[in-house]
Amino acid sequence: MRINIAIDGPSAAGKSTIAKLTAKRLGYVHLDTGAMYRCTALKAVREGISLDDEPAVCRMLENTDIRLTPDGEVFLDGENVSAEIRTDEISMAASDVSKLKQVRADLVKRQQEMARAKGFIMDGRDIGTVVLTDAEVKIYLTASAHARALRRLKQNKEQLNISTSDLETIEKEIEARDYQDMHRENSPLRKADDAVEIDSSDLTIDEVADRIYALVEPFLLKEEN
Ligand code: DC
Repeated sequence: MRINIAIDGPSAAGKSTIAKLTAKRLGYVHLDTGAMYRCTALKAVREGISLDDEPAVCRMLENTDIRLTPDGEVFLDGENVSAEIRTDEISMAASDVSKLKQVRADLVKRQQEMARAKGFIMDGRDIGTVVLTDAEVKIYLTASAHARALRRLKQNKEQLNISTSDLETIEKEIEARDYQDMHRENSPLRKADDAVEIDSSDLTIDEVADRIYALVEPFLLKEEN
């Protein structure tokens, strides 16, 4: 049978990389929900909208088209912003707008509509707890702040080719963002009661993917009901 898979966890734990790989292996569609908060932040910054002005950000969202392609490109109102949404500035701004209740309601609704059918792997902060509460497999993916900072530095330099801070600054930013994401009032990041926790600090990408596949496999063999 086809199922839905939810992957939550702190920033730079490898959620997107793992979700992409698993989606490919299963022939499923990967939805990176963080990209939607990042697009919201990018547009608000560009338009000079204050990131805590909830009514203004919501009005802006009413006229905002966010498209995620199956190969991981991100389009904001038709413009490819895949690299631009990954800067350190927009990372923090995304965390800021993600605190807003109505912004979350708008984006969660879009995410639930996108994944109405089965066969989706969604990664974010509230997928197992809010967006896809009935996902058959829920993963809570973590890693130490140091391991995550190293990965983020590598990704910024080698893959995205965008300007980046030094390792120590990135680690501090990651910790600040985790704190904000875990302590906000609306849908804070937390492990769903029925999620399986995987610490990826000392695991390779393939090892994490294999563990997830082992959790998914029993469902693949089941008949549709
Ligand atoms: O996964 P990411 O680093 O691209 O996410 C960017 C920010 O968006 C993150 O700081 C928290 C927020 N976010 C969220 O609140 N809920 C989600 N489902 C995904 C991301």
